[in-house]
Amino acid sequence: MNDILPGAVARWQQIERTARELFALYGYREVRTPVVEPYALFARGVGEATDIVNKEMYVFEDKGEEKLALRPEGTAGTVRAYIEHGAHVDGPQKWFYIGPMFRRERPQKGRYRQFHQIGVESFGVAEPAMDVEQVAMLDDLFRRLGVVPALELNSVGDAVCRPAYLAELREYLARNAAGLCDDCRDRTGKNPLRVLDCKVEGCQPILASAPRLVDRLCEGCRGHFEAVEKGLDDLGVKYRLNPRLVRGLDYYVRTAFEFTSDALGSQSAVAGGGRYDGLVETLGGPPTPGIGFALGEERLALILEASGRPAPEDRPEVFFVTVDDAGRREALRRAAELRRAGIPCDLDARGGKAKAQFKQAERVGARYAVVLGQSEAESGQAKLKDMQSREEALLDLSGLAARLRPSPRG
Ligand code: HAM
Repeated sequence: MNDILPGAVARWQQIERTARELFALYGYREVRTPVVEPYALFARGVGEATDIVNKEMYVFEDKGEEKLALRPEGTAGTVRAYIEHGAHVDGPQKWFYIGPMFRRERPQKGRYRQFHQIGVESFGVAEPAMDVEQVAMLDDLFRRLGVVPALELNSVGDAVCRPAYLAELREYLARNAAGLCDDCRDRTGKNPLRVLDCKVEGCQPILASAPRLVDRLCEGCRGHFEAVEKGLDDLGVKYRLNPRLVRGLDYYVRTAFEFTSDALGSQSAVAGGGRYDGLVETLGGPPTPGIGFALGEERLALILEASGRPAPEDRPEVFFVTVDDAGRREALRRAAELRRAGIPCDLDARGGKAKAQFKQAERVGARYAVVLGQSEAESGQAKLKDMQSREEALLDLSGLAARLRPSPRG
């Protein structure tokens, strides 16, 4: 679990600000749900056989009450809230959330035990147009931030076509068990789809020839998948079909997708999602189609870092250097004026030697310094010093705000 210090937070704010602005353009509204939910919600929603529920959840007893868990993801809690507040009566809903999630995984680059997701969930629309809109929106978000992770797309079928496929896959994996790793053999019985996700080199030949669900989709799933592909083509969203893309959560049907980046090393997925048409009903609500995704903020920050794009800076436009009491009073007055005008500025409230104050101005990255003392306070004029070029210009203090426009924020 990481501290995110002020120097790094500008990057996070840039990501979240961009997401909020974009989601608003698509009609998504923010929802905030608790980080603690009943254990049973995740067992039923995400799936008892998944690694997330089985191995990675932080579970605890609350003094004899029901078993609770720190949320490992945002979808189950969002669906619970949707049901609990009867949100379906207001027609289709588009919600988003930003917040911490918890998984007890082995930490490594891009994989942490507390991490942060930006996620969206849309309820009430079964049509492929919603899948297209959501994937395109996520693509749009990456573009706005100046990165282009690769999109992988698959259909994981539904209750009509998946059972027969799973039986076929299980039979194939059992027949070839000798060539598979222990993990794969273990998963063959419990969660055969996850076997397709195995990265172990030795398993690859067998997995490459495994039966593919995309070749066995029922008519409904096939039609849906083709419409999603066509919709993405129409919008110019590039993707790669990956018949072996499976997700680590059980609720998905039909569309499943992931955005991956080479900048991340082995934890290459920066975002993932898909359709979950049966989940609302499974969790006790009315039959309601749904689709969503979540992106990992830590991973997106790593990609932005690797791309070399500078984080937007939060630096003062002006730093007031004060040489006496009159100067300090004047600085406080002028700082208040600038802040009212929306111009970030600062001063060293300790006063002290001018040299030390200039040093502080440099440290915080101020663009200009203004030296104030009794004579400046009396004349109403002071020197504006450019901290980079060291050039100085004399100006009327009353015209300071007009001279400095608010710096654009990220
Ligand atoms: P997920 O694929 O498990 O999906 O997680 C989404 C993203 O969260 C991943 O692509 C990754 O960037 C980030 N992430 C996951 N685990 C970690 C970790 N231990 N450390 C850092 N980042 C991590 C879900 O959680 C689904 N609820 C997404 C969804 C929403 N599907 C439908 N609606």
